[in-house]
Parts: sequence; structure tokens; C-alpha cells
Amino acid sequence: MPVTYFQRYRMRYDLWQGIADAAPANPNYHFRGWNEKLLQHHAEVKFRSFRSELDANVFPCLGDADGCLRLMKEISNRQGFVPQATWLVQYQDPETGKVENCGTVQGIRSQPDVGAIQNIGIVASHRGHGLGTQLMHYCLRGFKEAGVRFVTLEVTSHNTGAMRLYKRLGFQVLKTVYKSAEIKYS
Ligand SMILES: CC(C)(COP(=O)(O)OP(=O)(O)OC[C@H]1O[C@@H](n2cnc3c(N)ncnc32)[C@H](O)[C@@H]1OP(=O)(O)O)[C@@H](O)C(=O)NCCC(=O)NCCS
Repeated sequence: MPVTYFQRYRMRYDLWQGIADAAPANPNYHFRGWNEKLLQHHAEVKFRSFRSELDANVFPCLGDADGCLRLMKEISNRQGFVPQATWLVQYQDPETGKVENCGTVQGIRSQPDVGAIQNIGIVASHRGHGLGTQLMHYCLRGFKEAGVRFVTLEVTSHNTGAMRLYKRLGFQVLKTVYKSAEIKYS
């Protein structure tokens, strides 16, 4: 299979600069803090958020439901897992009462004063309404509560929506890195 190199940016946010207030979320969206019972929900929404996206080529496990479950288990079992920076978003339909998982983010501590955001995802039908911004705010506040100073993430440079979100929040590009991946063309 041919190997493709994806350009990615390592970005960083200094929590000492503060966290801006986000616009209030639509009351039908509920932000759930980490709880082991939510692990499968995180995995399911991670898969639904990433399966048709660029990053499912860069990290094939994101395009696979079992891969997302394995990844979620691995993240939540890591020694540096930060539960305060790990959130699930659920939407409750005001008419039917039906609840749908629609967003996820997880945090780990990579160094004593550095947190790393893992795979923020919002399901496509819920994007563009500020939910990603809200979820990032919950995550950043969680890292602050956990006592880290810097929050890092990596983003594929062609991921325009995510880049726009991170820059608007105040993340700075620290470094350019390249990730190789084997792409299956059908
Ligand atoms: C990145 C993501 C979490 C953003 O979620 P969201 O709920 O749409 O976030 P927001 O509505 O708060 O902000 C999205 C921003 O992206 C912009 N945007 C969305 N789609 C875009 C596109 N195709 N091209 C350019 N900008 C786009 C929006 O205009 C908005 O920016 P603005 O408010 O400055 O105008 C969501 O797009 C997603 O889950 N993507 C797939 C998974 C992924 O790639 N995650 C990031 C991994 S690093």
C-alpha cells in the first residue's frame, strides 16, 4: 500500500493567559464529566465523529468502531489520564426526549505541567454551532483544575475547521511534524 505523509501542527495553549467565556450552550446539549460507565459512549461518538474524516486516514483506528473502543480503553487506562479534561456531549431531543451522543474529548498529562488533548470530535450533524468551542472550554478548565499549565494538541494541517477553532481559542503553532500512514485506495 502506498505511504502518504501528512503534515501536522503541534499546537500549545498557555493556561496562564486565562480561558475566555464561551457563549452559553443550547440547553438541549448536556456536558457529562468522566465516568467509567461512559467509556462505550465516548468510543461510539469518537467513531461517528471521525469515520468519514481526514484523520481516519492518518489514524486508521479512528475509522473503525472496535479501534475507537480499544483507543478509549487505552487512553482511560493510561497513568496520565486526566478525567477532569475528559467530557462527553449528549443532545436530548426536546420533543421525543431521545438522547444522542454527539461530542467527545479526552485529556492526558504528558509531563507534570503539560496536558495533551486527545481526539476532540463532534458528530457532523451537530457541527458549526459552537459545540466544539464549548467542549474545548470544558477540557481546558479541566486541565486547569488538574494543575497543568500548558495544553498541547496535534492537528492535521488540512483540517481547516479544527485549525480555525484552535487558532480562534488562542492555540499557537509550536512545531510542524509529519505522520506517515498507509492509504488504501479503492
Ligand atoms: C473540529 C470540530 C471538533 C469542530 O466542532 P464544531 O462544533 O463544528 O466547532 P465550532 O462550531 O465551535 O467551530 C468550528 C469552526 O470551524 C469552522 N469550520 C467548520 N467547518 C469548516 C470547513 N469545512 N472549512 C473551514 N472552516 C470550517 C467554523 O466556521 C468555525 O469557525 P468560526 O467560528 O471561527 O467561524 C469538528 O469539526 C469535528 O469533530 N471534526 C472531525 C473530527 C476532527 O477532525 N477533530 C479534530 C482533530 S485535531
